[in-house]
Amino acid sequence: MRIVTLPGVFRPISDTWLLAGALRPLAPGACVLDACTGSGALAISAALAGAREVTAVDVSRRAVLTACINAWLNGVVVCTRRSDLFSRLPAQRYDVIVSNPPYVPDPSSDHLPARGPQRAWDAGRDGRIILDHLIAEAPRHLRPGGTLLVVHSEICGIEATLKALRAACLDPGVVARHRGPLGPLMRERSDHLRARGTLAPSQIEEDVVVIAGALPPADPPAGAMSAAGARAGPGP
Ligand SMILES: C[S@@+](CC[C@H](N)C(=O)[O-])C[C@H]1O[C@@H](n2cnc3c(N)ncnc32)[C@H](O)[C@@H]1O
Repeated sequence: MRIVTLPGVFRPISDTWLLAGALRPLAPGACVLDACTGSGALAISAALAGAREVTAVDVSRRAVLTACINAWLNGVVVCTRRSDLFSRLPAQRYDVIVSNPPYVPDPSSDHLPARGPQRAWDAGRDGRIILDHLIAEAPRHLRPGGTLLVVHSEICGIEATLKALRAACLDPGVVARHRGPLGPLMRERSDHLRARGTLAPSQIEEDVVVIAGALPPADPPAGAMSAAGARAGPGP
């Protein structure tokens, strides 16, 4: 894949590619949303994996322009839009919502940055502002049987994500994991992370995980018999 980034736009890193790997195999003809698209790398991965329709959103104008350029460079069609998560999307549902959101805990603020490149990583003191919002909103934008796929570090809480997914009626599971050295920002903020108890005193590595949350398939219409029911025949 060919990716360029305009100044201030997040360059794809190992998290991006871990999540891109978890996107495959993609059901043929799937309709995919990449929320927090940055350079568009995940949206383009979905298009190259056979998605029928791909939408990519980002709160940053430069990121949206970058994703547009990269879709063109890779010869795929991606519908790009500037949007704070789902806020400016038309009423449409997706088979897959994929996101590598900002998730680095920010010791200095309980709020998201209003501008600047740090919008790509800072996510409040616990690193969960965007993640929790994304998970809570996702079910309204998924088709029955659809899946939300998110990537983040263990430092902002794997259990918290699994719990939030269950609370949103999404069936959760960790689908990919990679252990590596703490990233530069996590290292820089290690005092804050240790004080919060999210980083162990001697910890110098972190797990990055991809977590899926699946929306149950639609109930069959009342009176319809399932294939299993039809095979089993009437009960005793
Ligand atoms: C960690 S970067 C990920 C970029 C890309 N998806 C990747 O994996 O390489 C997070 C992106 O989220 C965007 N972002 C931050 N807050 C957002 C929001 N509320 N709605 C949409 N995008 C947001 C940032 O501008 C940035 O491009």
